[in-house]
Formats: sequence, C-alpha cells, structure tokens
Amino acid sequence: MAIIKLQKGTKDILPNDMTVWHFMEEKANEIFSKYGAKEIRTPIFEATELFARGVGDTTDIVNKEMYTFEKSERSLTLRPENTAGVVRSFIENGMHRLSAPVKLWYKGPMFRYERPQAGRQRQFHQVGVEVFGIKQATADAEVILMAVNYLKALGLNDLSVELNSLGCPQCREVFKTKLKEVLKPYLPQMCPDCQSRYEKNPLRLLDCKVPECNEIYVKPEIQAVIQSDFICNDCSEHFEELKSYLNELGVNYSINKLLVRGLDYYNRTVFEIKSNNLGSQNAVCGGGRYDSLVKNLGGEDTPAIGFAMGMERLASLLGEKNDTKTTTFVVSNNPLEAIKLTEEVRANGISCEFDLTNKKFVKQLEKASKVAKFALILGEDEIAQNKVTIKNLETSEQKIVNRTEIFANL
Ligand code: HAM
Repeated sequence: MAIIKLQKGTKDILPNDMTVWHFMEEKANEIFSKYGAKEIRTPIFEATELFARGVGDTTDIVNKEMYTFEKSERSLTLRPENTAGVVRSFIENGMHRLSAPVKLWYKGPMFRYERPQAGRQRQFHQVGVEVFGIKQATADAEVILMAVNYLKALGLNDLSVELNSLGCPQCREVFKTKLKEVLKPYLPQMCPDCQSRYEKNPLRLLDCKVPECNEIYVKPEIQAVIQSDFICNDCSEHFEELKSYLNELGVNYSINKLLVRGLDYYNRTVFEIKSNNLGSQNAVCGGGRYDSLVKNLGGEDTPAIGFAMGMERLASLLGEKNDTKTTTFVVSNNPLEAIKLTEEVRANGISCEFDLTNKKFVKQLEKASKVAKFALILGEDEIAQNKVTIKNLETSEQKIVNRTEIFANL
C-alpha cells in the first residue's frame, strides 16, 4: 500500500531534535521569567475576522497565506501569528485591569501558506513576548533586551539588530502621500503586487524583492523621501529615547529605513534581528510597537509592544546537540533486581533504563554502550554484596561501589 507522506512545508520534530527544542523552550521560560513575563497558551484556531482586523487585510499574510476553513457556518483560521490571539485573550480576560505592565510570553505552532524553502515552512513555531500597558520607550528597550538576552542565552552571537520608527498614523500619512507622489511616474513599471500595494499600503513597496521594483526604489529622488526624517516630534523623541537606552546598555543596532514589517498593526518602533549565518530567510526575530491594536480589536486603549522568533531558524543556528543518550543503563541477568535498581536510580532524578528482553549479559552491555553514558552492572556478586559496578562507557573505566554511592560517581 502507498505510504501517506508528510505535507509540503511541514516537518517532524524527531526525538534526536528534542535536545535542542527543549533547550530553546527551557531558556525561554528562564529568561522571560526574569523579566516578569508569564506564559500564555491561546488556541491554534481563531475566528478569521481576528486576523483580518488584527494583522490587516492589506497584508500578504491575510490575503494569500491563511489556512481558513468553515465549520458550522463559522469562518475559522489556523493562527498565522500569535499577537492577535494574545490581544484577544488580553481583552476577553480583562487583563487591562491588572497592574501595568502585563508581560506575556508564548511558544507554539503557526501556519502560513507560503512557498516552502530553507527556513520557510507552512507550519513553523514561534516563541514570542507581548508587553501591554506602557507607552514609554523604556518598554521598547526592555523588550529588545529580552530578545537579545534570550538569543545570548542560547549562545547565538553572530546576529544584528535592525531598528526603525514607522511614526504614528498621522505622520505616516504625510510620508505615504509623499512616497506615492514621487513613485507615481513609475507605477506602470512596477510588479503587479506593488501596483496594488501602491494604493492599499504604500509602505510595503519598500520591501519588495522583485529586481525591477528595486531598481526604481534606489533612484535618488525616491531615496531622498525614504531617508528623510518624516516622523513628528513626539515620535522622534520616543525613538531618540529608545536609541539612547540601547546605546547606554551596549546593544548594537543599525537603523534600517526600509524596515517596514509585513503586518499592519505597527506604529513607532519596529525591529528585526538577523543572522549572518542563514540564507535568504535570515530574520530570526521580528517585532514592534502596536499601540492601537487592543483598541481596534474592541478593548480599552492600551499601548503594547512585542516580538516573535522563528524556532526552526533558531534550531538550525544551534545545530546538532546530540545529547540524546540516557545517563545510565542497568546490566543484569536478574530482571527483578534490574527493575528495582532502575526505579531507584530514576527516583533519584537520573535517567535509567534496563533490558526489558533480558538478553545475554554481553548483549546487554553492547546495548548499554549504544544508548547510555554509564552501565550499572549487577552481577551475582554485586547482588550478594549489595554493590554495583559502575562502568563509564566513554572511557571504559569501572569501579565497584555501595548502592548508596552510585549517585556521587556519575
Ligand atoms: P513575523 O516577522 O511575521 O512577526 O514573524 C516572526 C518570526 O517568525 C520571523 O522573524 C521568522 O523567524 C519566523 N517566521 C515567520 N514566518 C515563518 C515561516 N513561514 N517559516 C519559518 N519561520 C517563520 C510576527 O509574527 C509578529 N506577530 C511578531 C510580533 C509580536 N510583533 C509584535 N509582537
């Protein structure tokens, strides 16, 4: 019979990958907890409208990439990202009544119907943080520090932080008008996507990847508009304050005026962290401020900022951590004694296995050297004397110890 295969753009995370995945998850809990963030788990599907209104119906994510289906005449969507879901939960659970800031972190699968390639999947995982209730740039600095320190804790270094300010809806409107004015003569030469973005979301023109469009956007008169300081005084002060915090704290960053992000909810600060060791899909982290989203989704006016990181991209940077061996393996021809010792070792917090099929002693030892770091040998003599022979399977050193001394010798 034909075997049923994995779907395009999805991947199994196999037992051998788990050391790395647990490491990423444990570090997230450890680092984000230090900043006072609490974990939240929201459903994987939500009302389609949440993403249409939240992420924005001019975005590629909403227009082209959502896994949407109907059930009982309701339109539902597998979450393409988790900011909208966390905001929904924040509103529904009245979290605006908690003392600000409310700091939440999450991990889990997201779904986007994109063209799969290295670093880009249709089901992928994100770990992310959302901080609610603070409009000052201190929150922006803290959120960027959370991202940078999490990546440091993972041992990832060759990364660069890119920063931009999109201003507020008012100053952005002025910028959009100027950009459209200067781009108008080139409209017929643009790709069809850019032609439709020109009306709906002109900022998104700036990160088009089509070479013909890029040739237009590097023209001096267009660059002059892009590079101009269009943001208003308030937005500019906010951005300067953030930059001064980051400078003082020694966070290296560069300003990228082309950084506009692919989701509609952002205002003021946006940032990305890129790796110099990934191919074209090199963004490991993306985030920014979204001060209007809570209100736009029906909640109290609450400023917010956050980020999310692609865990598959982090995993590929972390490489193989092949620490899948169990710590100990009991080798004995007495299955009852073997299971007793195995349970005793496990009860002391150390991983342990024994041969469930009670094969010959030599076979058991062979198996132990494949799957474990130490063999705990229980021959007849050891059982009679209430002792154990510990064999280090890497160095082949061995010694006989009392049962109470096992743990000090591993
Ligand atoms: P995003 O930039 O769409 O932002 O995604 C964040 C990160 O998720 C990316 O930098 C990338 O590492 C990873 N990622 C995105 N799409 C894929 C994919 N198809 N395959 C593999 N990895 C992918 C957001 O999702 C926002 N919700 C971030 C945020 C939180 N902004 C504020 N709060």
